[in-house]
Amino acid sequence: MGAAGSAALLAGAANASSARFAAPRLLGDPFSLGVASGDPTPDGVVLWTRLAPDPLAPDGLGGMAHAPVTVDYEIAHDAHFRLIAARGSAVATRELGHSVHPEVHGLMPDRWYFYRFRAGSAISPVGRTRTAPAQGQAVERMRFAFASCQSWSSGHFTAYQHMAAEDLDLVVHLGDYIYEKTFTRGRADAPLAPFPREEAVDLAGYRLLYAQGKSEPALRAAHAAFPWVVTMDDHEVDNNWAGDSPGTGLDIHRLRWLYRRRRAAAFQAMYEHQPLRLAQMPSGPSLRLHRRYTFGDLADLTMLDTRQYRTAQACGDGGLVEDCEDRFATDRTILGAAQRDWLLDGFTRSTARWQIIGNQVAMGQSDYDPGPDIAVGTDGWDGYVADRDAVLGAAARREVDNMVVITGDRHQNCAVDLRGDYSDPRSPVVASEFIGTSISTGRDGADMNDTGRLLLAANPDVKFFNAQRGYVRVELDHRLWRNDFRVVPYIRTPGAPISTRAGFVVEAGVPGVRPAWRPDDPVDAPEDDAALAEPPPR
Ligand SMILES: [Fe+2]
Repeated sequence: MGAAGSAALLAGAANASSARFAAPRLLGDPFSLGVASGDPTPDGVVLWTRLAPDPLAPDGLGGMAHAPVTVDYEIAHDAHFRLIAARGSAVATRELGHSVHPEVHGLMPDRWYFYRFRAGSAISPVGRTRTAPAQGQAVERMRFAFASCQSWSSGHFTAYQHMAAEDLDLVVHLGDYIYEKTFTRGRADAPLAPFPREEAVDLAGYRLLYAQGKSEPALRAAHAAFPWVVTMDDHEVDNNWAGDSPGTGLDIHRLRWLYRRRRAAAFQAMYEHQPLRLAQMPSGPSLRLHRRYTFGDLADLTMLDTRQYRTAQACGDGGLVEDCEDRFATDRTILGAAQRDWLLDGFTRSTARWQIIGNQVAMGQSDYDPGPDIAVGTDGWDGYVADRDAVLGAAARREVDNMVVITGDRHQNCAVDLRGDYSDPRSPVVASEFIGTSISTGRDGADMNDTGRLLLAANPDVKFFNAQRGYVRVELDHRLWRNDFRVVPYIRTPGAPISTRAGFVVEAGVPGVRPAWRPDDPVDAPEDDAALAEPPPR
């Protein structure tokens, strides 16, 4: 970008703030962690960056000194910043790791915008973002991708490189953006963060995990290309944590007060590294992540938080159990009463064609016993049957049209029919669930494995399985939800190509998933995918 652009950025920001804090002489690029935007509404987005000229500095401060720094930003209709829509400045302070989260208002609905930041003489990469359509606006179609589970130590984030090149309006992240374990097995090729212990337990440790993840250019590219809506799952804090109960991590941090301190540090680091609005800023060990965004008359996106308000897992730490009566207990919850009421109220009020539920752990029943017994994991909704019954029962009773649950956590691609009542095998299908695989967790993976064979054999409602790495691409209009499982064949080395392993559809008014390759299906298979011609191996 030219000198004229820099001058414009400087001139505009000078009017926007009276108190200015100079950028120090920075040793390195302060925008090394990239830029991001998120949580689009019809009139604006939240922008994000964090100044970190030395992102892996052991103290977690990114190479920044104590002093605050004024960060200017501008948002334009064009990539050359000739037609500026808004300018402003935000103060980056040490308290929040020199991150800024300016919220831009007054934009036009359903439009692309370009944005950038400036600190001192350094100018950030340009990001692109998009506002949501106006309330009730007739929206013909929408495209988004969803992703989860990006263990940096497992391999490259190649999937994001391909996601950044897609034609999308939005990216939804369903959690496990970082993993609390700090080992770096398999990634000796990349800059390693100087972790003092095997898990992050404090602010410096969590900050380093985010900085390490954002050292992947592909992740930065995907953030710069689209607005994101993010939530968290367990590994942003600790494996299988549940509300006030610590997870399965380091013993010394299982003491309640240490766990709360750890959770507060994890939440703060998450906020500092994500495009989250002020409403999502944590207060100690609490933050509000469940929220709803509307895309005209086409879709509501309801983001859930199934970690913070849940009761501890039934019958153990969340592993596989048989004969666990406790998972049916009516006082156990995965959402908490307030979030559950808010979710169900939203169903009743919404007039959108599709109800998209951004969810962390599998909602549909997953039986891992090949025989007549039922063996389920209790960390997912299988361990919280009362809440599942409440949500799917309400979907049936309130005649919620076209509910599609999008889920992460499993490091597998699955297409699943959701039934209103799992105690009655003849109860009707009331909604659909697409479980998206991991970006990198689980290393290269495989198209099929023993778990997949077991799941498909024991669960007639699980219609598809694949355990390669990738993301899910969705295109929806008023008639059809089209779901493409996008996979890469390897991540141990960079540069893998992408392909569509399978396409599934949900037809509006017909709950449940259908493969897109059936001859009577109205959707054409994409030409990049020979696999669509044949059903997947069972
Ligand atoms: Fe995960």
